[in-house]
Amino acid sequence: MSETGFKKVNVNLPGSGSPNISYDIHIGAGLLRSCAPFLSPLLKRPFVAIVTDENVAQAHLESLTQTLDSAGISHVTKIMPPGEASKSFTGLETLFDWLLDNKVERQDMVIALGGGVIGDLTGFAASTLRRGVRFTQIPTTLLAQVDSSVGGKTGINVPQGKNLVGAFHQPSLVIADLDVLQTLPDREFRAGYAEIVKYAAICDRPFFDWLESNLDALKSRDSQALSYAIAKSCQTKADIVAQDEKEHGARALLNLGHTFAHAYENLTGYSDNLLHGEAVGLGMAQAARLSVDLGLCPETDAQALVNHLASAGLPISQTDVKGGPFEATNLVNAMAQDKKVSQGVMTFILMKAIGKAFITNDVSAKQITTFLQNQG
Ligand code: NAD
Ligand code: GLY
Repeated sequence: MSETGFKKVNVNLPGSGSPNISYDIHIGAGLLRSCAPFLSPLLKRPFVAIVTDENVAQAHLESLTQTLDSAGISHVTKIMPPGEASKSFTGLETLFDWLLDNKVERQDMVIALGGGVIGDLTGFAASTLRRGVRFTQIPTTLLAQVDSSVGGKTGINVPQGKNLVGAFHQPSLVIADLDVLQTLPDREFRAGYAEIVKYAAICDRPFFDWLESNLDALKSRDSQALSYAIAKSCQTKADIVAQDEKEHGARALLNLGHTFAHAYENLTGYSDNLLHGEAVGLGMAQAARLSVDLGLCPETDAQALVNHLASAGLPISQTDVKGGPFEATNLVNAMAQDKKVSQGVMTFILMKAIGKAFITNDVSAKQITTFLQNQG
């Protein structure tokens, strides 16, 4: 990762008995309109299938198709409705029909141009289409650039819960163009920022200090500041995923705040009342406070984290959420559906300090219920 200008982060996953999976994340301003040279060497024939949503298509599809045209790469495009509803069995069926109708072959490249919804849906479709085709992530939200486009988790939502049907399928290439973030609504931008704070809170106190000093620049979407924060986040995620691709251990650290977050998302019906990144912000604030209550983390660290999340405009208490506060027992019931529950025991990611998160199964449902009853 270089310090200035364009940045590149490599994700290198040791294959068990098979060759390593290795791909690059390119980060920089203006990459979308000039990304064909990154794609061309990966193509078996000069053709790609693009999946995007209506909002992203309107703002950014032309930049992609122009660079493809100039490189002689032909393309077909599927434009999905924006929003979580597309990340469903219905959305998946629509996408499979379209990919097969367009005779997308096993050697072809599918491109996900959009936020986490398009990335997760397209990645999952790619993981099973003709038993697996390659795909490229071109994330267009801050959340997707620092989290969902990296690491290979793909999937859809089902009535029983979010992301409960999915697969690990790594992209072949990730292109994070800082310019596309300029059209992102403020609320979506703030939600994505929560995931950046998450990496600092997990394992990087100096990065947290840097975020505190650079919050204004980041909020004004300054390219230099964003480029540093996105590359740092991707590098942290790449390092953790390289240790534990399939989440048997260390990768669970990336779920800091998520046990709480998934419960709030569930109780708000996965609606616009609470975006995923907002839920993660609130979840991190609560994980920090719980860590203090259990005598594990100094109050000063928890307060610094909560203050920073609040300064970034993220929810830090249940009263900040439309429809909140919620019944503690309902929240705990929702937590019991979490993917990290094993033999009925919930997993929490707690903190010993900012930058020192750890995984624990030692928090009982009773402790959580009491904690939530005492929280606003
Ligand atoms: P999203 O994909 O729904 O995008 C948010 C909104 O912004 C949409 O309306 C979209 O059309 C619009 N948009 C996207 N890019 C834009 C741009 N550049 N300009 C203007 N509008 C733009 O939401 P998201 O926050 O990117 O992703 C959330 C999803 O990601 C959730 O489903 C979550 O479960 C998933 N996720 C997955 C992982 C993973 O590891 N796979 C990690 C975190 C989150
Ligand atoms: N967003 C959590 C993970 O990728 O593991």
